[in-house]
Amino acid sequence: MSQRTMDELCEELLAKRESARQGGGEKAVVRQKEKGKLTARERIELLLDPGTFNEVDEFVHHRCVHFGLDKTVFEGDGVVTGWGLVEGRKVYVFSQDFTVLGGSLGEMHAEKICKIQDMALSTGSPVVGINDSGGARIQEAVDSLNGYGKIFFRNTLASGVIPQLSVIAGPSAGGAVYSPALTDYIFMVEGTGIMHITGPAVIKAVTGEEVTSEQIGGSLANNSKSGNAHFTAKTEVDCFAQVRKLLGYLPQNNLEDAPDKESGDDPMREDMELREIVPVNPNKGYDVREVIRRVVDGADFFEVQSLWARNIVVGYARLGGKVIGIIANQAAHLAGCLDIDASDKASRFIRHCDAFNIPIVTFVDVPGYLPGAAQEFGGIIRHGAKMLYAYSEATVPLITVVLRKAYGGAYLGMCSKALGADMVIAWPQAEIAVMGAEGAANIVFRREIEAAEDSAATRTRKIEEYRDAFANPYVAAERGFVDRVVLPEATRGEIWRALIASENRRDLRPRRKHGVMPH
Ligand code: HXC
Repeated sequence: MSQRTMDELCEELLAKRESARQGGGEKAVVRQKEKGKLTARERIELLLDPGTFNEVDEFVHHRCVHFGLDKTVFEGDGVVTGWGLVEGRKVYVFSQDFTVLGGSLGEMHAEKICKIQDMALSTGSPVVGINDSGGARIQEAVDSLNGYGKIFFRNTLASGVIPQLSVIAGPSAGGAVYSPALTDYIFMVEGTGIMHITGPAVIKAVTGEEVTSEQIGGSLANNSKSGNAHFTAKTEVDCFAQVRKLLGYLPQNNLEDAPDKESGDDPMREDMELREIVPVNPNKGYDVREVIRRVVDGADFFEVQSLWARNIVVGYARLGGKVIGIIANQAAHLAGCLDIDASDKASRFIRHCDAFNIPIVTFVDVPGYLPGAAQEFGGIIRHGAKMLYAYSEATVPLITVVLRKAYGGAYLGMCSKALGADMVIAWPQAEIAVMGAEGAANIVFRREIEAAEDSAATRTRKIEEYRDAFANPYVAAERGFVDRVVLPEATRGEIWRALIASENRRDLRPRRKHGVMPH
């Protein structure tokens, strides 16, 4: 055979590349579109800045010889991998291609993902995984399971070192859900993204319950009921816009700071409306997001897990151009009580901010932990302990703003001075006490109230007495548990100054392998 020319060799490469780009072929792409889904490559285009994708391993394919798979070889093996830019910053990506063997994960498919994870970790760059897969490739049996194990291992090594984001844009079932669950945030596309351990058929066989995939594993189920997912999107276009936005709040890795962005919003800007939003009456509700929006740059608050555990609000914003993480009791839901889910939601968010050098601002208006047998049996003690643990462990600047109620253990749990807050700021109507005035008076003065001729009037008087003595910020301020009592309109400037004061916080902690966090 005569030696081929350079042109012929180049032609061969281009033909091979074209074949790799076809995925599972035209018919499979049509089926993908009929299901309302984009292709793996279209998704990468939506994620990255135009024209910045660099593919790796496009010619990798499986080496399985079972069940006729030796005759069904696809270049790329059902996952497109590489790196590109998001707003000019490097991001590694893998995108499963459902048109190839249902995006199922075999040995080499897993090797491609592992290589991307390794490259991202060694260069300190975020990874975005786009999931659309039938799970373990059945023909590759234990090689496929081993592949998942290697991915989980890398997810864990990278945790807290580089941001890891998962998009669920198709099925993701069985043990395959655990790689996304090991990442920082899960985005789901409504109508097509499905994530569950066992599907409807298994559930029916085992428990007799009749449910659809969407009901147990759809985006709304995972975003509002289980809390497994953090963001929901009506379309894939919206989903990738959200992923890009979130990446804009995160540093490239744990050794860097999150990117500043000037908004032109004066950090010392005052807002008189803040006096009106939080009612002085501790029993009245309001939406704490109104307070947050008025305090942060350009009223731009990017909420995380907005549909789950709504009694606590968490998310990212900027103040004076610097990224901050925000945690706030939501008086509009369950009166802002802390319960099991709220504790889990907040603790994880605290740890994420702490891992990635993002200062935390906590807005407090909390009546206590949610009472009830369901909470006790569900383990509110161990779940609530997570918040104490996460705040105490955090070494990023911690700024606490007490808006109104801060009662009992929940006061401590919401980043009190004793747990390590750098600056505690309180509004004039703040009530920092063991409990509300009514509950306290009924306990402390019970005998006196019962013995009185006019017990109703005595009760009212005693409540007032207690309120005057303790339901204010000054008792705590006298002891230095509150650093500053401030006018509500000055809150933005006060936080800004507190952030500057606590910048470059350095902590000396005992050396250890790692702590044992309550579970
Ligand atoms: C090999 C698979 C596959 C798999 C789908 N395909 N899943 N091939 N291994 N796991 C193939 C199908 O045979 C089909 O090939 C093509 O992908 C498209 O699948 P469809 O069924 O036509 O698509 P759709 O109707 O959209 O249904 C999608 C689906 C379904 C719900 C995901 O395919 C399904 O239930 N697949 C099996 C899921 C599963 O049990 N996976 C193992 C989970 S256990 P053709 O050639 O016909 O187009 C697991 C363990 C992980 O993942 C453990 C980690 C620790």
